[in-house]
Formats: sequence, C-alpha cells, structure tokens
Amino acid sequence: MLAPTSQVLLRNSEIFTSGRWLLVNPADAHICQDLSDSDVSVFHQFFDIYQQSQRLGEAAKHRFGASYTSDELFDGAVIYMPKAKEHAKMLLANVAACLKPGAQLMLVGENKSGVKSAAKLLEPYCKQVNKIDSARHCALFGGELTQTAKPFDIIAWQTVQTIDVAGLSYQICSLPGVFSHGEVDIGTRVLLENLPRYHSGRVLDFGCGAGIIGCFVALSQPTSKVVMADVSALAVYCSEQSALLNKLNVDVQPSNGLKALSAKFTTIITNPPFHTGIQTDYSVTETFISDCKNYLTSEGALILVANQFLRYAELLEKQFKNVTLVQQTTKFSVYSCLRAR
Ligand SMILES: C[S@@+](CC[C@H](N)C(=O)[O-])C[C@H]1O[C@@H](n2cnc3c(N)ncnc32)[C@H](O)[C@@H]1O
Repeated sequence: MLAPTSQVLLRNSEIFTSGRWLLVNPADAHICQDLSDSDVSVFHQFFDIYQQSQRLGEAAKHRFGASYTSDELFDGAVIYMPKAKEHAKMLLANVAACLKPGAQLMLVGENKSGVKSAAKLLEPYCKQVNKIDSARHCALFGGELTQTAKPFDIIAWQTVQTIDVAGLSYQICSLPGVFSHGEVDIGTRVLLENLPRYHSGRVLDFGCGAGIIGCFVALSQPTSKVVMADVSALAVYCSEQSALLNKLNVDVQPSNGLKALSAKFTTIITNPPFHTGIQTDYSVTETFISDCKNYLTSEGALILVANQFLRYAELLEKQFKNVTLVQQTTKFSVYSCLRAR
C-alpha cells in the first residue's frame, strides 16, 4: 500500500498532467508507476527507494545523490518533508534552483513530520503559499516560485568540525539530515571509548552517518581497509568528505542494509539505525543482525552499541556463538559478538 503522503499526491494527480515535474525523496517506489502518465523525474537521497524505483521501470528518470542539478528547468516540484527542518531548507534551496520562474514548489508530509511548518519554509520562495489538500493525517502545501533561485552549492550547507573521541582528534564533515548533525552521538562516543580489541584487516562501519566510526578506525588502525556504508546519499557524501579531510583512503558505498556489499569483513563496527524517516523501525537492524554472519570471516566479529531500551542481546545470541557485553552505561550497551568461540 502507498504511503499516506503518496496517497495525498495521487488524490491530486491532475497537478502533474502538464509540464515537467520533479519528485524529491518519495516515501515509496510505486508512486512513480502511479504517475507514469505524467512527465515526472525523481531525485532520491535514500538508496532503498531509489533501487526499488529503478527496478519498477524508467531507470533514467531516477537519480540518487546528495544534491540535484538539471540543465533543463522543471515546471514544478514536490518535496516529501524530511525529518529535520534544516534538511527541508536545504532541499528547498536545491530544488528551487532547478525550477523555472513561476513554477510550482510544494511540500507534502505527515502532520507528525512537522509539515505544518511548510508554509513558513516555502515563504522565502513563493509570494503566496496555499494548503492544497489535507487527508490521511498529511498535508500538501505549495506556491508559485516568485523568481529564479540562486544556484545551489552544497558546500555552503556543510559544516566541518574537529572532534575529540577516545584520544583521537579529527575532522568531520556534516550536513543537515545526517544523523547527529554537527555533534558526536553519545552512543557513538560510548562505543569508540570502549572498543574492545578487534582484528584490523577489512573493517566495515555499517550505517556510517558522517563517518565518525569509519574515520576513527582508519586513523587508529592505518593498515586496515575501511569500508563505510549508509542508505543515505547525504551520509555517503559526508563520509567521503570526512575521509578526504583526514587524508584517509577508505571506500564509501551506498547500501540498503548489507545488500550492496561484497566480500567478507574481519570486523563490523556499528551504531545501527532504529529509525526510517520519522518512524521508529527496528527491522533494519534486525535484518542486519541476521545477515551479518554472512558478511564476516570465520574469525570475524561484530561490535555494536545499542540504547538500553533496544533488546538486541537475544537476537545477537541467536546469531553468534560468543556474545560479550563489553560496557554498559545507564543508556547504552556495547556488545562484541564473535562468529567462532
Ligand atoms: C544511529 S546512526 C549512526 C551514524 C554514525 N555511524 C554515527 O555513529 O554517528 C545510523 C545510520 O544508519 C543509516 N541507515 C538507516 N537505515 C539504513 C539501511 N537500511 N541501510 C544502511 N544504513 C542505514 C542512517 O542513515 C544513519 O546514518
């Protein structure tokens, strides 16, 4: 079934019947099929929906990346409201630069995603913002672009900061929409400050965000081959930039779970996700834990930090022969899990 936000767009499908449209970060892949009679291109920052959309057809219409550029300007665009307001602002700046003057600029989102602030977010770009529709606990807001927007430069949205973690000082690039933007998550800090000894070799930072864990490993174990993976194009971009800032030779890949990764790792280190968009979602990490063994060498280990309220211990014990609770704080647990005893 289509996401409620996409259902709202379908109720208003006549909007898309004239001109070229850009859809940004759709919550599901099927909306593109349902709008296939219209001229719709899609900008994805999430690899899972991007891959699903490509499989459903017209692959050339779908682009995955941290930002979007287009030689030919669009007549309209709809942005699915992201979780972070700053991310919405960055997307609006990017998308407005891809529109003709007078084009339609819209935001659709669930009420709980903060879409009620859409009118304010659109005001810098549109003279008059209207609520076009509201249904399924969602709203669609839009207006006419008053003038050609400034060219978009992602660098203007980046922050670079020096972080000090577990005795290392290094630089991290971050963007709105990336996990723990501009700061080190407490769970990540607990993990890095309590890392047990692990095999260097081929080390994966799963769900790398801005690259804090991957860069830490590459700096502290220079002989290891570090791979970082994330479903978010913004995270992939920031991890690449963070590696460059620290002159590290790492491999950063977009991946939904472990699916896009090949060959085995000696160690996987992660602060895994428990959200998809604005929804709490344990399924990504549950699937990751089940699949993990297939991506580890026979002597390989998984090192994971989790909030106390997440009951991953049982799952880990089902999949690994030897699970050790390395550290426990009032909020976080760090586990080390070995494939072999
Ligand atoms: C808790 S954050 C950790 C980020 C970073 N490692 C840190 O410690 O700051 C989890 C990360 O997992 C990513 N993620 C969410 N779903 C994913 C999926 N299906 N596949 C890969 N990564 C995913 C998120 O984009 C986010 O960057």
